[in-house]
Amino acid sequence: MLDSVLTTNNLSQLIEPGRVHRRVYTDPAIFDLEMERLFGRAWLFVGHESQIKKPGDFITTELGKYPVILTRHTDNSVRVLINRCTHRGPKVVNEKCGNRRQFTCLYHGWAFGTDGKLLRVPVPEGCSPAFHTDKFDLAGAPRVGIYRGFVFASMAQSGASFEEHIAPMKGNIDDLVDRAPEGEIAFDAGMHRYIYRGNWKLQVENVLDSYHVPFSHASTVSRDGVQFARREGDEKGTKVVAEGGRTADEWKKRRSFTVGRGHGWTSNTALDDGKRASPAFNRYKEALAAKVGAERAQQILTPRLHNTLIYPNVSIMGLNIHVRVIKPLAVDLTEVNIYPVRLVGAPDKMNFGNIRLLNVTHAAASFVQTDDLESFTRAQIGLQSDLTDWVDISRGLGAEKTADGVSSEFATHEMVVRAQYQAWRDYMCAV
Ligand code: FES
Ligand SMILES: [Fe+2]
Repeated sequence: MLDSVLTTNNLSQLIEPGRVHRRVYTDPAIFDLEMERLFGRAWLFVGHESQIKKPGDFITTELGKYPVILTRHTDNSVRVLINRCTHRGPKVVNEKCGNRRQFTCLYHGWAFGTDGKLLRVPVPEGCSPAFHTDKFDLAGAPRVGIYRGFVFASMAQSGASFEEHIAPMKGNIDDLVDRAPEGEIAFDAGMHRYIYRGNWKLQVENVLDSYHVPFSHASTVSRDGVQFARREGDEKGTKVVAEGGRTADEWKKRRSFTVGRGHGWTSNTALDDGKRASPAFNRYKEALAAKVGAERAQQILTPRLHNTLIYPNVSIMGLNIHVRVIKPLAVDLTEVNIYPVRLVGAPDKMNFGNIRLLNVTHAAASFVQTDDLESFTRAQIGLQSDLTDWVDISRGLGAEKTADGVSSEFATHEMVVRAQYQAWRDYMCAV
């Protein structure tokens, strides 16, 4: 029986090669420690530059226990500010997004610039002689890193550099952004937002889990075992289930990959890409080829990736394209935001088609994602029981192949989940 006191030693005992202790999902003390040691240290995805195009544009979000403002300052620089008034502590900005010349706290009217600088204190004659406005600027995230518009921040002054964190995943971001004829993407079509009663890691594990699809998402496949089409120009989707309810061979061939730090991705199942055609998709292909040349366009249009996880809080979906942000709220409460991605330079009809398909697959009342939410909620309930303490993640254990720093395995196995818990242990046990 594990000690209830959390020492580094018994934290590390929660993770074994092919299993994890249920407490990692259910213990509020572990959640608090995750917010401190994992979300308080790791590079976290904050937002995308397209959400803050002009000076004064902002979005608000949460990075672990920190409410933050992602904004663009008057000099065009991207700022990640802690959304906590330096007077008595309230969130300064309550709106989800907007544009402001300054951020004014509702309580006593202190006003801050888009660089966090304290600009105005009402009734200044009441300030003590020792009060200096320059000591009360909004704090900024200690470290900010940007790659192709994806903004990340770390709340730790030191630790792995942004380059170390993102380098192995740059190709996965490129894979998405290069699909845009203008080489640029935009998060400007709203988002799907939902909250489920389960631990945040359930969603993180799930984005690279190909094992569950034929079962959890059985309602999305037709009688011949093929999932509905999820891309503009496809006549049908992936073969998932074979005769007799068995998982289809095509599906079983999918691979998953890990590169350390908890990151990973899954390969795409080849769809009928030769046959992919529609008036909008054909115009898109022409626009892309006109920008990058026919050969490069062909490479870009040959799908390589299905889902990518940049641990711990963001995933990129390569099929019906979107970016998913995972926000832990409590040990048993998680918010998920799904942003449709617009490929800048692609025909509006094609971008619109992606949003429409995302409504079908990932809206709060949709096929696909709602199935997963049900699994997470049921898992959280089941994991409360303590006669069986361990959660099995051993599929494919020992079968991993590693070359040039990349490990690969079948995507219906659980290598990627084990890799996430290795990273989890690294963050949690570093003191
Ligand atoms: S608490 Fe923000 S101005 Fe007083
Ligand atoms: Fe799923």
